[in-house]
Amino acid sequence: MRGLGRSADGRRSRRRALVTGASSGLGAAFAEALARRGFDLVIVARRRERLEALAEELRDRYEVAVQVLVVDLTQAADLQAVESHVASDAALTILVNNAGFGTIGRFAALDPDRDEAEVRLNVVALSRLTRAALPGMIARGLGGIINVSSVSGLLPGPYHATYGASKAFVNSFTEALHEELRGTGVRVQALCPGFTRTDFQERAGVASRNVPAFAWMTPEYVVEASLAGLRRGTLICIPGPLYQVLTALIAALPRSLVRRLHGITSRRALNP
Ligand SMILES: NC(=O)c1ccc[n+]([C@@H]2O[C@H](COP(=O)([O-])OP(=O)(O)OC[C@H]3O[C@@H](n4cnc5c(N)ncnc54)[C@H](OP(=O)(O)O)[C@@H]3O)[C@@H](O)[C@H]2O)c1
Repeated sequence: MRGLGRSADGRRSRRRALVTGASSGLGAAFAEALARRGFDLVIVARRRERLEALAEELRDRYEVAVQVLVVDLTQAADLQAVESHVASDAALTILVNNAGFGTIGRFAALDPDRDEAEVRLNVVALSRLTRAALPGMIARGLGGIINVSSVSGLLPGPYHATYGASKAFVNSFTEALHEELRGTGVRVQALCPGFTRTDFQERAGVASRNVPAFAWMTPEYVVEASLAGLRRGTLICIPGPLYQVLTALIAALPRSLVRRLHGITSRRALNP
């Protein structure tokens, strides 16, 4: 999909994409890639300075319109404001539900409030924004929703139980919508990246030094794979050959073995 389309009367019209969590990492890379394709943008996160600096850069470089929404998507009133924005935007063609974070450690020792916020962001905000976007996209017969999940959503995640479960929700939810949306012109994708160099690991407390160099991808690589996948209609997008092989193995091995091995590798990735 490109940022210029034709309206019913044949005139060229601009298309818009909304990206949550655009102040860093994958979200900022999505915003850049979509602006480069000619989309006007709405970029959403809590850190105003980062969003405004990105907006200015994208306006200058690609001559697109960029609106900034500074909100905390774990807060009901803020989420409601973004839902209204999404539902009333007749030019909204792509929604990237990217904002998310992970809590790492033994579940019994984690802060329950932070875990709840993780579910509110990774699950509740994602599903409510999808619900807000779909009626308009279906009526227009055009749209794409990218729900940023993780390879962690494809297997049980000892030492990141809530994170893995939140991403399993994203995968199952997106797969179900894919069937409901057949024939509507609206596409959905669950993007399942592996280790990607962003602020994510530091914020989650993962010891990045324990992850081998070959396992890392750049946000730009992941985003290009996702957008190419959306064009082709890929439902579960797993960027990178390493993770494609790994996830195929995970699907083939007994679940009990996968759980056990994942528990061992996850423990090693924790900070001492
Ligand atoms: N990096 C990886 O290895 C990896 C792997 C698999 C999946 N993912 C997924 O990729 C997505 C993006 O993460 P990232 O790797 O790009 O990490 P990141 O650099 O930490 O970006 C997370 C983004 O989410 C926003 N965010 C966090 N809490 C928010 C809140 N309460 N309200 C609104 N926005 C909020 C952050 O902005 P503010 O702090 O400014 O609000 C930031 O823009 C996440 O869903 C993550 O689970 C990442």
